[in-house]
Amino acid sequence: MIFSLNVLLILVRVSLSGAILDANYYQKTCPQVEDIIYTSVRNATANDLKVPARILRMFFHDCFIRGCDASVLLDSTPENKAEKDGHINLSLAAYNVIDDVKTMLEQSCPATVSCADIIAIAARDVVVISGGPSWSVLKGRKDGRISRAEETKTLPLSHDNTSQLIQSFSQRGLSVKDLVTLSGGHTLGRSRCSEFDYRLRNFSAAHDTDPTLDPEFATELKSKCPEHNKDPNAGENLDSTGLGFDNDYYKRIVGGKGLLVSDQTLLGDYRTRWRVEAFARYRRLFFWEFGPAMVRLGNVGVVESGEVRVNCRVVN
Ligand code: HEM
Ligand SMILES: *[C@@H]1O[C@H](CO)[C@@H](O)[C@H](O)[C@H]1NC(C)=O
Ligand SMILES: *[C@@H]1O[C@H](CO)[C@@H](O)[C@H](O)[C@H]1NC(C)=O
Ligand SMILES: *[C@@H]1O[C@H](CO)[C@@H](O)[C@H](O)[C@H]1NC(C)=O
Ligand SMILES: *[C@@H]1O[C@H](CO)[C@@H](O)[C@H](O)[C@H]1NC(C)=O
Repeated sequence: MIFSLNVLLILVRVSLSGAILDANYYQKTCPQVEDIIYTSVRNATANDLKVPARILRMFFHDCFIRGCDASVLLDSTPENKAEKDGHINLSLAAYNVIDDVKTMLEQSCPATVSCADIIAIAARDVVVISGGPSWSVLKGRKDGRISRAEETKTLPLSHDNTSQLIQSFSQRGLSVKDLVTLSGGHTLGRSRCSEFDYRLRNFSAAHDTDPTLDPEFATELKSKCPEHNKDPNAGENLDSTGLGFDNDYYKRIVGGKGLLVSDQTLLGDYRTRWRVEAFARYRRLFFWEFGPAMVRLGNVGVVESGEVRVNCRVVN
């Protein structure tokens, strides 16, 4: 109870702070910022195709915990366990990509570009690199000084239903439309078995497998995620084209092949179903909506006061 009250206070404070961002924020102080980030992220992707999914997810997690303030990048210290070592943490590989970008930016325009803005720009770039839409990224975020592992518990969970997801998004000032649109981020990347294998066996008293799951797909998943599975990294792509940004995620949901409960649930609720079906039918509609939704995600809990970290892993 005390915990959830704290969480609520954090969320309320975060969503009330007004966004003061600007597309031309670095025009005078670091005009080459977007070129440097794009080149670096593209190079990193050429070396490791997992980079786009990891960066996109990093942006989501950063903005959902304490707002978009790069709290996700801070390393743990002896006194403090940071977000990156909390529940459902991300992969180290993408943190290195941000470190490399930051090193280059510190050479070209020292102490100017915040780590939070780097994540926001890189998240747009990985979508473009993967074949998705582009948009103008608003900038001017400052970096936070606090990162707490336990706050990762406030992230939405893979078994959440639509009501829970709507609530989680609305606590951050995001709409039902934003929920459906941003969930399309699952057009990239994969999930480990542990996030969905409870859907495959002994699901409930009445159903051995989750009845919203296509039976053929369930069989396929059972072979990828065997019982007493020993490989913690075994898993499946979140849509059938894990490397390409497209609307296949929504087509799969319409076909009962949403991997996570939090994906499939969007078809089961009247508030979200029609938009899932529209995005499944019209790729261009999804692409049209995705950029503006990412801009709204990027406005969550933006801080005006704060610092520009010199090293994204430690406070100045
Ligand atoms: C709606 C609530 C959401 C839930 C419950 C959720 C949950 C998850 C889970 C459980 C995974 C797999 C993690 C693992 O295996 O360790 C995942 C992966 C991913 N999520 Fe989400 N997510 C949500 C929203 C989003 C949003 C809004 C975005 C971005 C716009 C996003 C981007 C991603 C990406 C790109 C991956 C793949 C990561 C990789 O392959 O490295 N997710 N998500
Ligand atoms: C490109 O990536 C390689 C391997 O990660 C790295 O050694 C090199 O410095 C990178 N070049 C640029 C311009 O980022
Ligand atoms: C995730 O957190 C655990 C500790 O909670 C840590 O041992 C592990 O290295 C972290 N993994 C990544 C990829 O950050
Ligand atoms: C969603 O989950 C919550 C918590 O488990 C539950 O109270 C609620 O009834 C569920 N809503 C729907 C529509 O299934
Ligand atoms: C299935 O679930 C029920 C109730 O949760 C449990 O009693 C039973 O042992 C489970 N069966 C298997 C094979 O895991």
